[in-house]
Amino acid sequence: MIADSMGCFTSAAKDANLNLVMMNLPIRPRRNRKSAAVRGLMRETTLSAANLIYPMFVQEGEEDTPIESLPGCTRWGVAGIVGECKRLYELGIPCVDLFAVVPEEKKDAAGSEAWNPEGVVPRAIRAIKAAVPGLCVMTDVALDPFNTYGQDGIVREYEDGSYEILNDETVEALCRQALCHARAGADIISPSDMMDGRIAALRAALDAEGFSHVSLMSYTAKYASAFYGPFRGALGSAPKFGDKKTYQMDPANVREALREAALDAAEGADFLMVKPATLYLDVIAEMRRATTLPIAAYHVSGEYLMLKAAAASGWLDEKQCMLEALLSIRRAGADMILTYAAPQVAEWLREETL
Ligand code: PBG
Repeated sequence: MIADSMGCFTSAAKDANLNLVMMNLPIRPRRNRKSAAVRGLMRETTLSAANLIYPMFVQEGEEDTPIESLPGCTRWGVAGIVGECKRLYELGIPCVDLFAVVPEEKKDAAGSEAWNPEGVVPRAIRAIKAAVPGLCVMTDVALDPFNTYGQDGIVREYEDGSYEILNDETVEALCRQALCHARAGADIISPSDMMDGRIAALRAALDAEGFSHVSLMSYTAKYASAFYGPFRGALGSAPKFGDKKTYQMDPANVREALREAALDAAEGADFLMVKPATLYLDVIAEMRRATTLPIAAYHVSGEYLMLKAAAASGWLDEKQCMLEALLSIRRAGADMILTYAAPQVAEWLREETL
């Protein structure tokens, strides 16, 4: 009773004791999963420390303070961040992204602390580049940590209580901020504000001052997401009123992300970014097909915190779940990932290769 078509059982291999049967099945995908060595050969996507960018927070003063809303992360003083950057570089992390923590008394309506050459970010850039020159230093460009509104752009208030985020005035301020970072030695500028036309304007401003070597990572598709909550807690930068929906993207949209990608490419972005990451894997995948530019994805504070909280309660395995989440972002098509788990992940990956 030998079956001739796939999937039929045959009695030829029947074992009297174990009652084994054998299907006439020439195509067996499990052969490609039969051992660690074979699985390794078949693996389509990898995750390595070389893919990771670590977002870091830098504050005034000497102290390093743990961030309650982002377990494992720290608000660093300039001295502390330099020491940590040495360790990160030794762990194989190629790039950090710096965010400023600004005391309330230094905030104003214009956000002018954003282009103070003695502000915490330019000071941290100079110190890091002097101590760890091989580490790539990226900086965040946007006004929300610096203005009294907690909005990424310049705000015009009207008498009836309504307000507007001014696009072109904001772009001019962002150019000032970016030049301040470039003069301090930043390697990559990453505008997170979602104003129209800022990539072309930043490129022109940088080139005009001789910074044609400074790269631009555009927050191309940054969604108006509720998953930024823990980050805003870390910086004290939550909007004082309203929301960010007139500039950040509607979570319902994907074609709009491709429109933004085409504009960023035409304006001279060196690479693009999608944010958040795991909730927007379809956007990453679509963008991957639509452009030849490298793509980054930001595994944001809320995505990180969900895993940390579930792991802290004992309900999820932190290491396995974090690695799986980050791998899914790579599989969707992201070349690099901004993640608060970067140092921990680099340690885990190092242990695995020992
Ligand atoms: C603001 C900015 C935000 C994040 C990065 N830059 C928050 C926001 O847009 O309100 C979010 C990062 C995160 O949640 O991890 N320019």
